[in-house]
Amino acid sequence: MHTPSDPDAILDDLCARHGTRQDQLLPLLHALQDRLGYVPPSLVQPIAQHFNLSRAEVHGVITFYHDFRSAAPARCVVKLCRAEACQSMSGDRLLAHAQQALGCGLHGHSADDSFALEPVYCLGLCASAPAMTVDDRVFARVTPARFDAVLADVTHAQTAEAV
Ligand code: FES
Repeated sequence: MHTPSDPDAILDDLCARHGTRQDQLLPLLHALQDRLGYVPPSLVQPIAQHFNLSRAEVHGVITFYHDFRSAAPARCVVKLCRAEACQSMSGDRLLAHAQQALGCGLHGHSADDSFALEPVYCLGLCASAPAMTVDDRVFARVTPARFDAVLADVTHAQTAEAV
């Protein structure tokens, strides 16, 4: 019995729904990413077989479109505002702190994939800079200490969910 999160079972289901016409490759890839959050590299070969394409052709489509991810998304996305007002309010210092705290640069993931760090360009909170978001929550006047406190809360919540 397959679980709903079994990538092979999900691909089987999507292949059955989309058929084998090659114009269904993109819709299937989008549906796969919607279900799994990314397109696992291990599924490229079976997808190619299903559409009677080469592995390189499917890989080429996945890498051409920036929407597709080949790795699982981080559990939590931290976006630091890198626009002018936030930069002028110690935004660079906050970025350096965030990079050190998460152990990754912009566009990177923490080693355990708990956090992704991304730039954003103005959150409309310029008067309360520097600003950031953590998933869909917005924070203003973020100091390094506040950054640590917010991440500690998120980490605590992630741990509680996992128990
Ligand atoms: S510049 Fe950062 S919120 Fe506007």
